[in-house]
Amino acid sequence: MKVDVLLGLQWGDEGKGKIVDVLTPGYDVVTRFQGGPNAGHTLEFEGQKFVLRSIPSGIFQGGKINVIGNGVVLDPALFKAEVEALAKSGHPLTERLKISKKAHLILPTHRLLDAAYESAKGAGKIGTTGKGIGPTYTDKVSRNGLRVGDLLHDFEAKYKAATDRHKEILRQYHYSLDGLEAIEEEWFAGVECLRQFEWIDSEHAINHALQAGKRVLAEGAQGTMLDIDFGSYPFVTSSNTVCAGACTGLGVAPRNIGEVYGIFKAYCTRVGSGPFPTELSDATGDKLRATGHEFGAVTGRPRRCGWVDLVALRYAVMINGVTRLIMMKSDVLDDFDTIKACTAYRVNGVETRDFPFDISEGIEPVYTELPGWKTDMTHMQTEAEFPAEFAAYIRFLEQELQVPIKIVSVGPDRAQTIMR
Ligand code: GDP
Ligand code: IMO
Ligand code: MG
Repeated sequence: MKVDVLLGLQWGDEGKGKIVDVLTPGYDVVTRFQGGPNAGHTLEFEGQKFVLRSIPSGIFQGGKINVIGNGVVLDPALFKAEVEALAKSGHPLTERLKISKKAHLILPTHRLLDAAYESAKGAGKIGTTGKGIGPTYTDKVSRNGLRVGDLLHDFEAKYKAATDRHKEILRQYHYSLDGLEAIEEEWFAGVECLRQFEWIDSEHAINHALQAGKRVLAEGAQGTMLDIDFGSYPFVTSSNTVCAGACTGLGVAPRNIGEVYGIFKAYCTRVGSGPFPTELSDATGDKLRATGHEFGAVTGRPRRCGWVDLVALRYAVMINGVTRLIMMKSDVLDDFDTIKACTAYRVNGVETRDFPFDISEGIEPVYTELPGWKTDMTHMQTEAEFPAEFAAYIRFLEQELQVPIKIVSVGPDRAQTIMR
């Protein structure tokens, strides 16, 4: 068996959580491979709504094993809050959630460093989620990180050495350490919660599962345009959000990757700073935000909105080797007279369909305008019900992207999903 991967093709928040939940009945194991509590994955079913941050979105479909892989960074305090909220709503996880010993720990001082680095950048700040993601991955790469498995032996000394080093940097940044003790108290309570779960060598567990014929789904966080290598650097996150990240973040060989589900919104959003060629800073952008409830699941920040960017999407399809597309939030476009899609960029007067090195300025989107469908699609259950204009929009996107759109989402609920 091979690992199927589901990942975001835009700047995150495409609706990954919802679709992982929808696809989970077809799998035995669901696993996260990168990112951490910067993610906010929303699931809605039976009138309930959940936002998951570190826990895979396969936990609501009974009897499945969920794994937090080695590529993830984990904050025990936020993990505990997530676990407790789920337990309270009748979803105890202890038996069904396993954690890689190689996952790196987000320490309290990583969170402070994230804030210190951001305020030092001033106007050029990234607009991070403030969860310590960048500093934790930095420590991983510079070989100073602490992993879940480190909690097993002599952790106090390792913790002290790491935080002493962080405090020294924070002092250089004149960043106050006030409040650190309270955060640490919460953090160590989180560690105790973490101990209630089985810590595993997840690379072995996942490969053994494949050999035993089990079906494994890997759930991406963030999106391709936030990838550390291929995103709009430096306005990106600090991990490989692309398909290759599933190989390193789980210990799965490239030849054991199966389907690659690429998920995108029928339009486009971005939260935080950084370039966004199709951004609409006008009434149309405001309408997309209001209709799509485009406010961050983690930070509550308003998301920037714009038309779908096929130059960026073609690039994402290429980098990830997408085999199936999933289009989300189609219903948000239900009430537009016309819909635009950016098919090329004009850079210094020259048109290109290839994603350029630098999109920070001088990019003029070239749009194709299509008729809107002006029909409420939220109750539709089958493709046969699609208005002709919507069917034409799908055909146009498939033609541009050269990959079939296999799933169409017409609302936030699990049930508002149409398979093609
Ligand atoms: P993720 O980070 O990729 O899992 O996406 P988020 O949960 O951050 O953001 C997606 C938002 O859109 C959530 O509030 C979902 O409940 C909502 N959503 C998902 N699919 C649809 C859809 O087809 N239509 C509408 N209107 N909302 C959707
Ligand atoms: P999900 O998984 C949208 C953005 C932040 C910021 C940049 C770096 O829900 O799609 P970080 O805290 O990672 O160092 O922030 O990345 N960002 C996200 N935007 N969805 C996310 O996750 C994001 N995770 C990080 O806003 O611009
Ligand atoms: Mg999200």
